[in-house]
Amino acid sequence: MAPRQAAGGTRRGTGTAALVSAARGARKHAHAHFSGFKVGAALETEDGTVITGCNIENASYGLTVCAERVAMFKALSEGHRRFRRIAVVADTQEPTPPCGACRQILWEYGGDIEVVLANLRRTAGSYRMAALLPLPFDRALL
Ligand code: THU
Repeated sequence: MAPRQAAGGTRRGTGTAALVSAARGARKHAHAHFSGFKVGAALETEDGTVITGCNIENASYGLTVCAERVAMFKALSEGHRRFRRIAVVADTQEPTPPCGACRQILWEYGGDIEVVLANLRRTAGSYRMAALLPLPFDRALL
């Protein structure tokens, strides 16, 4: 079923193919002037809303924010609190997994969500956050 477009560029009722497609679309907005490495992400909330993100680089390199964190921060700032999955897309042969900083943020706010990895042609695999971030430092320790 084709996803319905909702206000603010979000979509509802999304299957894996549509989620990956949303991440591919978001990747086109990437600001990757320095690395040339464009990434897109699409985060699905528990109610089926999809919120996208792309990486945003800066001349002060350390200020760069990855696509996954942009998507999560957009979602949180719009009031979303429960998440199911995130799709991550880059133009690489092998899938690009979230970096360490993104894993920490995804775990903090998404918990053990599914992470779908894809490139421009295929969906390469699916992982749980608990497998990508074993022995996490989180609020349970504070
Ligand atoms: N990047 C992401 O956006 N997500 C990832 O999962 C890996 C890395 C970005 C950060 C930077 O703009 C570029 O890719 C190269 O590291």
